[in-house]
Amino acid sequence: RLLPDLPDGRLTDGVVTLRRLGPDDVDVMYRLHTRPEVVANQAPPVPPTRAAVERRCLLAESAWLTGAIARLLIVDAVTGEPAGSCGLSLSDPVAGEGSVGYALLPDQRGRGLATRAVRLLAGWAFGPAGIARLVAGTVPDNTDSHGVLERVGFRREGLLLGRLPGLAGSRTDDLVFGLLPDELR
Ligand SMILES: CC(C)(COP(=O)(O)OP(=O)(O)OC[C@H]1O[C@@H](n2cnc3c(N)ncnc32)[C@H](O)[C@@H]1OP(=O)(O)O)[C@@H](O)C(=O)NCCC(=O)NCCS
Repeated sequence: RLLPDLPDGRLTDGVVTLRRLGPDDVDVMYRLHTRPEVVANQAPPVPPTRAAVERRCLLAESAWLTGAIARLLIVDAVTGEPAGSCGLSLSDPVAGEGSVGYALLPDQRGRGLATRAVRLLAGWAFGPAGIARLVAGTVPDNTDSHGVLERVGFRREGLLLGRLPGLAGSRTDDLVFGLLPDELR
């Protein structure tokens, strides 16, 4: 298994809990991933259909088993309320490189939950998943996302011009951050 199961089925620091996405998470995932600011920070910036979100949730377990991507729900560890989602994909399995992504529901922002979630995910990636290096691609003006990455220990590695598809045939730049195991905070 390129992506092993989570220990006891979850990762937690007592404030946030990460667990595998599943078929019951369609409503919250659709609500989150059709928000304008979430759409604007993905490539291409097009909202998913409800059918696409259903497919993502239904196939989350098999995508994890095949090692394609680990998709997780971020849950408030105290209340059990969903707070957002995150994921780890094997962007370059041969080189041991993984890529992370994340988003929070608006009313869950500003409390450090994304920072906690990415920190937990990175610890699992460098530990049980045996990943050697993590990257995160960002829209260059997404300073909230850069703050999350920098609090976890990621460094800015470079601006890749026109790397990502935009709207109507345009291209957008990708500000890439990187993290090695001994840099994780
Ligand atoms: C990116 C995103 C997840 C960041 O959310 P966020 O709430 O700013 O990030 P965190 O949960 O780490 O919280 C950090 C904020 O909480 C504050 N905070 C409060 N308590 C904190 C704690 N214990 N630890 C860390 N931060 C804390 C921080 O000061 C920071 O606020 P500031 O930016 O005003 O200084 C959110 O903006 C989002 O979902 N955006 C849309 C999707 C997106 O862009 N995803 C990333 C694609 S690359």
